[in-house]
Amino acid sequence: MSVTAPQPESQSTSDLPEVNNGPEANSGPEVNKGNIEEIRPIPRITIQAFCENETVRQTLELSAGDRRMARAHVAVQMGGIPGAVEYYGAAPTPNLIIVESSLKGESLISELGRLASVCDGDTKVIVIGHLNDILMYRELIGHGVSEYLVSPVSMADIMTAISSIFSESENGVLGRMIAFMGAKGGCGSSTICHNVAWAISSTFQNEVVLADLDLPFGTANINLDQDPTLGIADAVFSPDRVDDILLDRLLAKCAEHLSLLAAPSSLERTYDFDANAFTQVLEAAQRGAPCVIVDVPHQWNAWTRQVLAAADDIVITAMPELANLRNAKNLIDTIGDIRPNDSKPKLIMNQVGMPKRPEIGVNEFASALEVEPLAVIPFEPALFGTAANNGQMISEADATAPVSDQIISIAQSLTGRAEPKVEKKSALDFLRKLKRKKSDKSG
Ligand SMILES: Nc1ncnc2c1ncn2[C@@H]1O[C@H](COP(=O)(O)OP(=O)(O)O)[C@@H](O)[C@H]1O
Ligand SMILES: [Mg+2]
Repeated sequence: MSVTAPQPESQSTSDLPEVNNGPEANSGPEVNKGNIEEIRPIPRITIQAFCENETVRQTLELSAGDRRMARAHVAVQMGGIPGAVEYYGAAPTPNLIIVESSLKGESLISELGRLASVCDGDTKVIVIGHLNDILMYRELIGHGVSEYLVSPVSMADIMTAISSIFSESENGVLGRMIAFMGAKGGCGSSTICHNVAWAISSTFQNEVVLADLDLPFGTANINLDQDPTLGIADAVFSPDRVDDILLDRLLAKCAEHLSLLAAPSSLERTYDFDANAFTQVLEAAQRGAPCVIVDVPHQWNAWTRQVLAAADDIVITAMPELANLRNAKNLIDTIGDIRPNDSKPKLIMNQVGMPKRPEIGVNEFASALEVEPLAVIPFEPALFGTAANNGQMISEADATAPVSDQIISIAQSLTGRAEPKVEKKSALDFLRKLKRKKSDKSG
């Protein structure tokens, strides 16, 4: 911190903040999340906070537990600026110190000067104050404080302030990661995942990395007609750090804006991984591309759970039958527990309207899960079968097929380009028409 030291000034103890452990602390103050959804993950930095009020402490604690701050190392304690000054008299300072203070004007500047005298030069400081005063804000920024937030602060206020200070750092901004998982094997999660990755890269000309995490049986290589010698296994089995140079060698270029981290799709080895086996390679991919699409196999273990926990968005694909409904419900509930500050996973209903199969109605299925499906994709064996056997995307097999438009709508919606075109009502109309066509043919 390079706060310019203020003129020495006698500090009367009456100016010192009082630590508030009053009734508020026991009654459990309401922590405001704020608009947290758009905030990018905070890089790997160390943060120490010294609060005065219980609400601010809890807001910081909850922020520290959020997935966006999972990379950062955060410690929160009470004590305000005096606590920080005492602590850093004997300890090295972290990348970022957050201090709460109810002081104002010269008293605050003077206290911050004491903090500056025990801070390393490159440590940043965020002050959470209680006075909404633009002059004071300017003065503090002029003295080298990185950000002055006015209490009450939300989790989003804190994370936005942190990411605005550190996103330009060498750690860089991470791209969005969208994870796809099926509610049951064979429901079409991988097919939709690959097609959506393709749509994002081709329709929006956005750089996309598709990572196939189904190491023994992955089909991204077949669907995208690739046969690379290197792929994701070379990263997860490599004992060295996955850097950008290694990542570049592992990526197979499928189209102008689409690169694949292919699965080996072989049974020469077995694939038992630790929880964080994919963390490095996925982060390297996120550093290199604004959009990383991950095909997560239908498995529940430490690493699939970890990948879902780290994703920005999760898409669950399900077929309209009972085991899918049960599994989708369990996934949505458990993911909700792991990611309490995120919106629910998105739901795609697939293979809807399979002849002769008794199905649970889409409305019934979705309302049991309390989610609006992002898309309802019909059972189209000729179209999907042709694409799969020819190593093509759906839009390559038939660009005029309504499913091709649905895939683009999903891509749009997931990248925030637009609301999904396929609303529940129109999707059902579409299905009704489809059924009518089928019964016309059979009748
Ligand atoms: N809407 C659909 N209609 C017909 N067949 C489909 C549809 N969606 C996927 N399929 C087919 O279902 C099979 C399983 O798909 P896949 O994507 O491998 O499922 P998962 O990854 O969920 O196990 C593939 O043969 C695929 O072509
Ligand atoms: Mg699959």
